[in-house]
Amino acid sequence: MCGIFGYVGKLDKAGEIVLSGLKKLEYRGYDSWGVAVKSETQNSILVKKKTGKINHATVEDLPKSTLALGHTRWATHGAVINENAHPHTDCTKRFAIVHNGIIENYQEIKKNLAQKHHFRSETDTEILLHLIEELAIKLPGSEAVRKAFTRARGLNAIVVLDALENKIYTAKTGSPIVLTVKGQNSYLASDSASLLAFSNELLFLNDGEMAILSSGKITLQNIADGKTLLPHFQKVDWKFEESEMGKYPHFMIKEIEEQPKILLNISANLAESAEKIAAFIKNKNVYFSGCGTAYFAALAGSYYLMSLAKKRSLAVYANEPILVKNLTDDDVLLALSQSGETIDLIETVKMVQAEGAKVVGVVNVLGSTLFRMANEKVLLGAGPEICVLATKSFTAKLGFLTLLSYALSGNLKVGQRLLAQAAEALDTIFSQKQKIKALAKKLVKKQHIFVIGRGLSYPMALESALKIKEVTYLHAEGFAAGELKHGVIALIEKGTPCVVLALNDENYESTIASAMELKARGGYIVGISPKNNEIFDDYLPTSDVGVATNILQIAWAQLLSYYMALELKLDPDKPRNLAKSVTVK
Ligand code: G6P
Repeated sequence: MCGIFGYVGKLDKAGEIVLSGLKKLEYRGYDSWGVAVKSETQNSILVKKKTGKINHATVEDLPKSTLALGHTRWATHGAVINENAHPHTDCTKRFAIVHNGIIENYQEIKKNLAQKHHFRSETDTEILLHLIEELAIKLPGSEAVRKAFTRARGLNAIVVLDALENKIYTAKTGSPIVLTVKGQNSYLASDSASLLAFSNELLFLNDGEMAILSSGKITLQNIADGKTLLPHFQKVDWKFEESEMGKYPHFMIKEIEEQPKILLNISANLAESAEKIAAFIKNKNVYFSGCGTAYFAALAGSYYLMSLAKKRSLAVYANEPILVKNLTDDDVLLALSQSGETIDLIETVKMVQAEGAKVVGVVNVLGSTLFRMANEKVLLGAGPEICVLATKSFTAKLGFLTLLSYALSGNLKVGQRLLAQAAEALDTIFSQKQKIKALAKKLVKKQHIFVIGRGLSYPMALESALKIKEVTYLHAEGFAAGELKHGVIALIEKGTPCVVLALNDENYESTIASAMELKARGGYIVGISPKNNEIFDDYLPTSDVGVATNILQIAWAQLLSYYMALELKLDPDKPRNLAKSVTVK
C-alpha cells in the first residue's frame, strides 16, 4: 500500500533519486504517484503528480534540487484523480506532505481551517497540512509538525518536506517508516528494500516517534513530549541485488525459483528456533493468525500441529478476531506475516497481548512492526519479496511450520530432511515448464476453475485458487474435497477444470472418489499428486516427501498461475487493485 520515499542531502538530483526510490516501491500497489522538489531558485516547492503507473515517466521537468519527497498512492480518501495524489503543498508552498493511513478526525480539524485555507484535494492529508502551516506561523517547522500530528486520530505515518528549513520531518502512529544516512545524504522510505541501494544500516521508526532529517543527519524525538531519543540503527542482511529482477522477466518467477535455496536455508538455520518455539508453545493453547496467503499458512500450521504432533490449535483470519478474544497467559498466538505490517494482524496482536497472551511473530521483514511487537520472533529469511503475490514467503512459512511440528513431536531431524528433499524435488518441477505452459494455455479459455483437497491438501487448495484468481482475474475457488456434494458440485459442467490435490496418505482414495464425482459430471481433472491415476486428464507429478509435498503442490499452482497470467498478457508482479502490504483497515 502507499509507498513513500524522501531525500535530503548534497546531491542535486533529489527528484530523480526519489522517483527511482518510488519505482522500487511500485510492488506495494498504487493508483497514482507524485514527486515534490524544493526549487532552490524560487524558494518554493514544485510538484509533479499523476494518476496511473510511473512506467517511463521522468521528473526531468522539475528543477535540480537537494530536497525531495515522493509518494505512490493507493486511494482511501477521495477518488483517483491528479488533485488527490500526494504530495500536497500548503498555501505558502513552504511545506509538502505525504501520508499513509486515515486521519479519523479530519472533519473536526478542518472546521477551524476552512475559512483561511484553500483546499485543492478531497484528502484528509491536506487538512493536516494546513494545520501544520497554521502552527508554523509561530513555531519552528518540526514543532509545528509534532503538535499537528498529536491532533490527528488514527494509525498514520506522515512525512513533511520543509523548504524553508531544508528538512524533512516524519512522524508515525502506524505504517512503517525506515530511515538511513550515507555520508552527507539522508533517506527515508516506507520500506527497507528501497533503501538497500544506499545502506543496510537502517533505523526503523517506532510508533509514537518522530524523526528530523537534514543533510547527513537524523535526529529522533518522542511525539508526545518532544523529548530527544537515541536513534538505534540495525544492520539488515538483505542484499541490494536480492531486490533486483536480474536475469528474470518478472519477480514472480524469480521468487518461485528461489524457493529451493530458501527451504535449504530454513532446514539448516531455523531448526534451533523451531526447538525454542516448540518449547515455548508446548504447554499453551495455540492459535494461529494471518491474512490472505499468510492465513492459509496459518491454517496449514494448525493441520501440521495436529497431524504431526497431536496438538490441537485454531487458525483465525486476523480480520475476524472474535475467536481469539479474551485470551490469557495460558495462550499463545502465532502471528504469520510476510511484511509484518498488515494492519488487521497488528491490531489482533495488540489485542491479545493486552489481554495477557504471548505472541510469536513469524515474519519475513526484519524491523517490521510485528517483528518488534512479538514476544518471540522468527525471521523467515526468504529475502525481499517484491511480486505482490506471496510465493516464497508462503512456502518459507510452511517450511518453518513443518520444523516446528516435528520439533514438538521430538522428530526435528525428520522435518529437516523432508525440507531438504522438497528443495531438490522443486528443481525437478521447474524443469517441466513446457507441461505447465501447455496446461495454462488450455485453462485461460475457461471462466471457472475449482481446486479441491482433503486433509493437509485442503489449505493448499485454498492457496492455489487464491494464486490463480489474484493474477489471472479468473474465477477460481478452493474447496475441501468432502464438501463437494454439499453444493459445489452444482457448478460443475462439461469441461470445467478441476484441480485435484492428493497426497499419498490416508486421504488419497477418498480424494480420488471426490474427483470421480467431478469427472462424472464432465469435470476436466488435473491431478497434482505423487501418485498418478487413470482419472486424471492432466497430471502434474510431485515427489512424495511427506508433509513437505504440500510445498510441491503449491509450486505447481504458482507456476500455473504465472503462465496463465502471461497467456492473458497480464503483469504477474502487479495485479490490479492489490497491494503487497495492507496497512489500512
Ligand atoms: C496482501 C497481499 C497478500 C498477502 C496479505 C498478507 O493482501 O496482497 O499477498 O498474503 O496481504 O500479507 P502479509 O504481509 O501479512 O503476509
